Formats: sequence, C-alpha cells, structure tokens
Amino acid sequence: MTLILGIESSCDETAAAVVRDGTNVLSNIVASQDELHQEYGGVVPEIASRAHLERILPVIQKAVAQAGVNMQDIDCIAVGNRPGLIGSLLVGVAAAKALAWSLDKPLVAVDHVLAHLWAPMLSGAKAQFPALGIVVSGGHTSLLLLEDPSTARCIGKTIDDAAGEAFDKAASILEMGWPGGRLIDKAAQKGTATHRLPRPRLKNNAADFSFSGLKTALLYGVRGNPKRIDGETVFPRIASSLSTEEKNDWSASFQEAVVDTIIRGVKEALKNHSVKCIVAGGGVLANSRLREHLLSVAEEFHVQLHVPELSYCVDNAAMIAGLGWHLFSNTQFANLELTASPRGIAS
Ligand code: KG4
Ligand code: ZN
Repeated sequence: MTLILGIESSCDETAAAVVRDGTNVLSNIVASQDELHQEYGGVVPEIASRAHLERILPVIQKAVAQAGVNMQDIDCIAVGNRPGLIGSLLVGVAAAKALAWSLDKPLVAVDHVLAHLWAPMLSGAKAQFPALGIVVSGGHTSLLLLEDPSTARCIGKTIDDAAGEAFDKAASILEMGWPGGRLIDKAAQKGTATHRLPRPRLKNNAADFSFSGLKTALLYGVRGNPKRIDGETVFPRIASSLSTEEKNDWSASFQEAVVDTIIRGVKEALKNHSVKCIVAGGGVLANSRLREHLLSVAEEFHVQLHVPELSYCVDNAAMIAGLGWHLFSNTQFANLELTASPRGIAS
C-alpha cells in the first residue's frame, strides 16, 4: 500500500489530496479562489499566488487529517510543477520540497495537463495504451498521444484561447458572471442553437484549434457591428438589453460551436492515429454537451471513452497524487532542486 500526498497550485485552486495506490482517494481538499478574482472577470496572477501562500499549509493539513493518516504515514509527495502561473506553481513546489526534506520522503514532479488525464482512473477507469488524451480546460485545449500515463506527445492544441477561456469570455460578453463555463452550459440547456457561429478550420494542422474568432463573432452578434467614433469603439447594443431567452439561445449557439470545433479535432486525430481508448479531462469535461458528443465519437470509432466524474474535472490534487503514484512506482523521482515551469508537455 502506497500513500501519496498530492499538491496542486497551478492556477487559482489551492488543493491537496491523499490517494492510496493511485486510485483510492482518501481525501481531496480544494480551496477555490473564485470570489477573489470574480470582480476582475479572470484570474489575477498576483492575487492568486498570495492566496496560495495563505492557504497551502491549512489545505495540506486538512487533507492529511481527513484521510485519517499522519504526515509520517505518507510515502511520497507529488507536486504539480508545470505548466501554469509561475508565481502560483512556486508556492506548491516550495511547500512540497519543504515537506519532502523535513519528513525525508521522496518527491515526484507532475505535469498538470497529464494529471487531468489521470482523473478518470480515480473512479476506477482502466485505460489501455496507446491512448488519445483530450484535455479541455481554462488554460488548455490539447490532444495528446499517450504511450503510457506519463509519456505523451502533443498532436494538436489551441493556437489562441483555450476552450474554457472562450466559455468564460462568452459569459462575460453575455454579462452572465464568472467563471462562465458552467453558466453557459446551464443557460444552453434551456435555449436553442439558432445562431450560426463560425467553426474555424486550421490549414497547418487539422487537429489544432482556434477559438478567438468565435468569441469575436459572438460579441458582434450580440452587440452589433461596432463603429469607430472619436477614436473609440462603439457598439449599437448592450448585452443587458437581451432577454433571458435570447441569452439562452446565444449560449446554446456558442456551446454548439465550441463542441463542434473540439469534436472535429478529435475525429481528425482518431483518423490518423490508432489508439486503444480515449481518456479525457479538464474543467470543460463537466460540459454535458461535450460529454455527449465525445461518447458518440467513441462509438463511431469503436474505442472506449474514459471521462472523469464531475468533481475530478476541475483542478484538484487527487489527480496529481494519482499520476504521482505512477511516477513513484516507476522510480521517476525529482530532487530538491526541482523548480516550476510555465511550460509543460502541451505548451
Ligand atoms: O481544469 P480547470 O479547473 O482549470 C484549468 O486547468 O484551466 O478548468 C476551468 C475551466 C473554466 O474555464 C470553466 O469555465 C470551465 O472549466 N468549465 C466549464 C464547465 N464547468 C467548468 N466549461 C463548460 N461547461 C461546463 N459545465
Ligand atoms: Zn487544469
């Protein structure tokens, strides 16, 4: 039996978890910072790293206590050290190194994007390799070919906004709040995709994605074509003049365009690469429509699909501890010179 303490601080969630043998989650503590960033409509890196600093030790202590174990029972510390906001990552890395040194335990360094693909295993999924990995989150929209859980090659990614970021910006255009993905998903369930929005195709690599043109199309659709007046951009309409029904229809239209774009990339990848299954992860996997469409693609291509349960879609430390266990089992240890990096396997 191996107990791994996972630590995650790559963006705006301070998280710690204790996981037994890679899949048995004994505790999973996530302290969200949503309320701190809400008024800015996005994550402010400086605020995020300060909040991590205040929260990291209480969150770790809570995770160990809730797991019903002592610090000394932990066999290894796993930390997400890449990719992400550098100031935020450094808080987790410093805490993990201090614990590993003071407790004299091994340390493993986990790629956050690959960890999202471990999330389905936390609910009993058993992925077979090679696998196609799909990570769709606030920071990433990436397709990966996985040889095993920690060996991957990126075969497609967004060239501008991530899909989650696009959802958040769409909610902001529609004046619905932040973070917006969940709000758009909810509104879309009550609406109809009546508006035709673009599904950008990329010439260089058909498995790459682009979402920024779609966001602009939504802005112009909702607020009309802007004019330059006295050097300022002026829109003929404001979003608050829309009725709830109109917002629901725009949400459904936008969601359909994002999901279609992702699915087209996934199909392209499946046509060109032979895989035994699909593993998916990231906050946007909480989206009901994306889950539905991925299931039909998996059926069409006769491959198994593994998606995380909803609580493991968004950033958490159980997925870090899970992939950390795989690295620990393969003796892929880090040393105390470990540092953080804004770049990872898919960026
Ligand atoms: O994985 P995550 O917690 O953070 C990153 O690693 O980036 O993903 C957060 C993203 C946010 O952009 C949020 O709006 C989006 O996931 N999201 C959703 C839904 N729930 C969360 N997007 C679409 N539909 C949802 N139901
Ligand atoms: Zn993430």
